[in-house]
Amino acid sequence: MEPIIRIFHSPAELAEEFASDIVSGIMAAYHKERHFTIALSGGATPKTLFSVLAEEFNGSIPWKNVHFFWGDERCVAPEDPESNYKCAKQYLLDKIDIPGTNIHRIIGENDPGAESDRYANEIKDFVKSKNGFPSFDLIILGMGLDGHIASIFPDQQALLHSEKICEVSIHPATSQKRITLTGKVFNNAALLAFLVTGKSKAWLVSEILNKAKESDYYPAAHIIPENGKLEWLLDEEASIFLSNQ
Ligand code: 6PG
Repeated sequence: MEPIIRIFHSPAELAEEFASDIVSGIMAAYHKERHFTIALSGGATPKTLFSVLAEEFNGSIPWKNVHFFWGDERCVAPEDPESNYKCAKQYLLDKIDIPGTNIHRIIGENDPGAESDRYANEIKDFVKSKNGFPSFDLIILGMGLDGHIASIFPDQQALLHSEKICEVSIHPATSQKRITLTGKVFNNAALLAFLVTGKSKAWLVSEILNKAKESDYYPAAHIIPENGKLEWLLDEEASIFLSNQ
């Protein structure tokens, strides 16, 4: 399925619109008496979305029906400034009334190999399966300047095709160990949404969305859900090299 490209005037407008979409998805599951599973991305981009969900939509979301997971985590303690969990906790989780059992943290302080296996089992327990892999209702991804997604870096593309749900990866510059969901899980989501903003990523966005020959090098170019929906949510700056912009 071709990606749906949505361009917003600013990161704030993107966050407002997408938060509203997330609420619709949660409510649709709620009315079917189903829980809604979301895998969050790390990095800075989602902070605005977290704040909008916590401050503008908090009262309209049945949080007991929402289960939060992470697409990846750095192998650090939860209070470490590097922790993706810490970021979500600060901007969202501490501001909403959600049962602690609905927050499925990757235990970054655990042994990476053991935690990768443990987390995969936790996902299996909560996330519905489709085609033999967990199928999240929503996976949110950012994209690094090298085209990495979650913690799948260009030099570790085997993680895109792993038969496992989670793998341990190594940051190419810092050698920091990470735990990441794999490409098969990302491509099994009902909805996978890239949130990419800023001029610095504009060229990469155009290379990937225009399917340039060299784009195979970027893990982000390999994220194309087989049966789910793929959306690229961009601000105007990140879309400047897309045609008819
Ligand atoms: C991580 C993130 C990573 C992030 C991109 C974009 O753990 O580092 O999951 O994949 O999404 O690096 O980060 P920014 O949103 O900060 O640009």
